[in-house]
Amino acid sequence: MWGWTVPRATCFDLLDRFYRAGFREVDGATNYPINKKPEDFRKAENILLEWIKAHEVQDLKVMMKVGSVNNLRTPENNLAKSFLLMLLDEYRSEFGPNLDTFMIHWDNRQEEKGIRESLEALAIAREQGLRTGLSGIKHPGIYARLNQEFSLDFRIQAKHNILQSDYSRYQAFHGRAGFIAYGINAGGVKLDPGQYRADSSLRARGGNVAEEHPLTEKLQAILKEANQRGGRPPVSSFNHCGLAFACHSPDMEGILLGVSRPEQLEDSMSFFEALRTYGYQDLYDSLKKLTE
Ligand SMILES: NC(=O)c1ccc[n+]([C@@H]2O[C@H](COP(=O)([O-])OP(=O)(O)OC[C@H]3O[C@@H](n4cnc5c(N)ncnc54)[C@H](OP(=O)(O)O)[C@@H]3O)[C@@H](O)[C@H]2O)c1
Repeated sequence: MWGWTVPRATCFDLLDRFYRAGFREVDGATNYPINKKPEDFRKAENILLEWIKAHEVQDLKVMMKVGSVNNLRTPENNLAKSFLLMLLDEYRSEFGPNLDTFMIHWDNRQEEKGIRESLEALAIAREQGLRTGLSGIKHPGIYARLNQEFSLDFRIQAKHNILQSDYSRYQAFHGRAGFIAYGINAGGVKLDPGQYRADSSLRARGGNVAEEHPLTEKLQAILKEANQRGGRPPVSSFNHCGLAFACHSPDMEGILLGVSRPEQLEDSMSFFEALRTYGYQDLYDSLKKLTE
């Protein structure tokens, strides 16, 4: 939401705090923000680049998702080898040592020749010392089969929350890739509709902010039960549920925080620390049951 509902000064504040807390991984994509305003195409990556240059940072680990040719929320993209290699050159030159992962963003193709060419571009990225990744892939099985020729170690971004998960679609990669959960708040769902602000993400994305989510009552009961255990920080929001759900899920090597304000970053970092320190397996088990 950088450059859309999150202004540049807030992005800088978020990056300052995140970096100071010792975190280094940052996710981006050529088409962020996806706000359908052509003039904002590549705005989010430019905010990130400005911050990197202003602080002369050399040790960020940026994951850049590529292939989209606009930010109009259409599936239109270009995954030709030549285009991917051009982007690889451009991002290596812009981000320098801060570029860590080169990731394909959205692919609905089934045709093997084109997919093989995209994998050839990723293999070149690997030769140049980058990690490689996939995101929004409609037919992961074809990628898995063709990857027998390349043996790329993929990182895979998958939507994974208590309302919806794409993890099962990537069955061909289960146990064989590092999954990274995104959309853990289902785009900004709140337990109490009174918490939606005028600039709430869910509202900006066209979601329903007028009514309580149908699962709210069940979630409140799960939170109450989890908090009765005591001896650990309480679980108090949809975001905490999303973090706990992703953190305990199989194959997840990372979680993408989509925080839109500093208080949310502090809250998410502190609950993440609680997840690493205390057991919340009971909470995960209850949430998992809710998804079945
Ligand atoms: N690979 C892909 O195709 C793909 C797709 C989507 C996203 N992503 C990546 O994943 C990131 C996160 O995605 P997302 O924005 O869909 O994530 P999300 O976690 O589902 O939604 C983010 C929204 O949740 C709310 N939120 C976040 N932290 C909170 C907290 N601590 N307390 C209360 N509310 C909180 C904020 O909404 P309010 O502003 O309304 O408070 C925030 O804008 C993106 O920035 C992007 O890097 C990747």
